[in-house]
Amino acid sequence: MAPSPSAGLNGDAGARIRWTVERLDIQPADRILEIGSGGGTAVSLVAERLAPGRGVLTAIDRSATAVKRTTARNASYIEDGRAVVQVAEFSEAGFPDGAFDKIFSINVSLFWIGPARAEFAQVRRLLVPGGAMFACWGRGPTPGRSDQIAARARDRFAEAGFTTEVITENGLQCVKATRPA
Ligand SMILES: C[S@@+](CC[C@H](N)C(=O)[O-])C[C@H]1O[C@@H](n2cnc3c(N)ncnc32)[C@H](O)[C@@H]1O
Repeated sequence: MAPSPSAGLNGDAGARIRWTVERLDIQPADRILEIGSGGGTAVSLVAERLAPGRGVLTAIDRSATAVKRTTARNASYIEDGRAVVQVAEFSEAGFPDGAFDKIFSINVSLFWIGPARAEFAQVRRLLVPGGAMFACWGRGPTPGRSDQIAARARDRFAEAGFTTEVITENGLQCVKATRPA
């Protein structure tokens, strides 16, 4: 049998991506959006937890090079319909209202640099009521700075009407922002 595209995912980046995917509590029929898929390693880990014909992960990145890497790594999941990969800038992505049960990003600074009001409104619009966004990153060598980033991102999600929680574990951090039901 061919190895899964997520096999051999070692090192700090691999640990960060695995940890984030475990936080998502993925259900087989989930509709999930990843913002900024980069090399596409999270796509493999999410798609292997989805049921073909039921769950779908849509991965976007504004970089055509990143999308090429994501696509190459996840050809089998794209073929069986569990993954869809697109070049798109998040604030301009034209998905329908309530298209996703969960949205996540890993090491994408969008939600803590600048006011990003259009992006918060877009997350709210795209999530089903009760759905959640996970904005996650590695805490790196300056955990105090990471805590400041978490506080800033949490405040911005709260101002945009989300219920928020900061998750900190093993040098990793996420703001979980739930759209009220
Ligand atoms: C630091 S990389 C992280 C990649 C991957 N998530 C990881 O953890 O290895 C950030 C990625 O997000 C993408 N990105 C940043 N802002 C974006 C936006 N507003 N819309 C779409 N993609 C974005 C960049 O092109 C880049 O590929």
